[in-house]
Amino acid sequence: MNDTQALLDIATLAASAGGNVLKKYWGKLKTIEEKAPGDLVTAADRESEIAILEVINRHCPDHGILAEESGSQGERHSPYLWVIDPLDGTTNFAHQYPMSSVSVGLLVAGVPTIGAIYDPFRDELFLGGIGLGAFVEFHGDRVPIRVSNCSELKRSLLITGFAYDRTQTIDNNYAEFCHFTHITHGVRRGGSAALDLAYIACGRLDGYWERGLSPWDMAAGVALVRSAGGIVTAYDGTDYDLYSGRILAANPHLHSAMIAELAKVKPLTQSFPFHG
Ligand code: IPD
Ligand code: CA
Ligand code: CA
Repeated sequence: MNDTQALLDIATLAASAGGNVLKKYWGKLKTIEEKAPGDLVTAADRESEIAILEVINRHCPDHGILAEESGSQGERHSPYLWVIDPLDGTTNFAHQYPMSSVSVGLLVAGVPTIGAIYDPFRDELFLGGIGLGAFVEFHGDRVPIRVSNCSELKRSLLITGFAYDRTQTIDNNYAEFCHFTHITHGVRRGGSAALDLAYIACGRLDGYWERGLSPWDMAAGVALVRSAGGIVTAYDGTDYDLYSGRILAANPHLHSAMIAELAKVKPLTQSFPFHG
């Protein structure tokens, strides 16, 4: 099963299967565990991943898999690697703050090529593939999406996030958050990196940067943003690396302005007591 459109259909099916599990667990979690300080995991994460993997393994038994909760499995030498976050935004989900998603991405020869991101709260499915375009599906209607046209940072709305190691490092994104908050209409902190990228892809937000991320937070979203006409790179504009933890994604008008602003940011040294 290697046809790109068929693979996008499988990603879509898998993301929906995970989403059904999240709906089942919403407001009904019995226990919330901590993998590391502040890094939560629940039965919803684990069961969603099982549902997603069942779809992928059924349709693509010869592909590789990298999934947040169960790690690497499947065919190591395949050029196809599914990169899966079964519940992106676990902190929100555990606190019953309705902003989370399921993220199913496919790398082909290491390149993010297909992405399906499902928001179970709004029943929005964002999907896209390199060469296929990008779409949002809502109540059975599938419509094309595109990044925004905003061309001035001072009129932009951005989004970012803060990694679980934020109290251990001075490189915790607080300085960047202050900097961009000062020069834009605002900076949101959604709590689901995959949805942040989906919102860049559909033009609800204009730019996104973050550090400390894992491949499963970004794989699907990178394919989606690029399919929707956006640019994804490292902070300094060099080639994006899925394993670097860092990402800058923006519409083509704002991308270079964001690189220039990120280069100006100096870490906040005075105000925060770090534990590292
Ligand atoms: C987290 C979310 C959040 C980001 C964190 C991620 P998780 O994923 O994507 O937006 O700021 O760095 O770890 O843990 O909810 O799957
Ligand atoms: Ca995640
Ligand atoms: Ca997760």
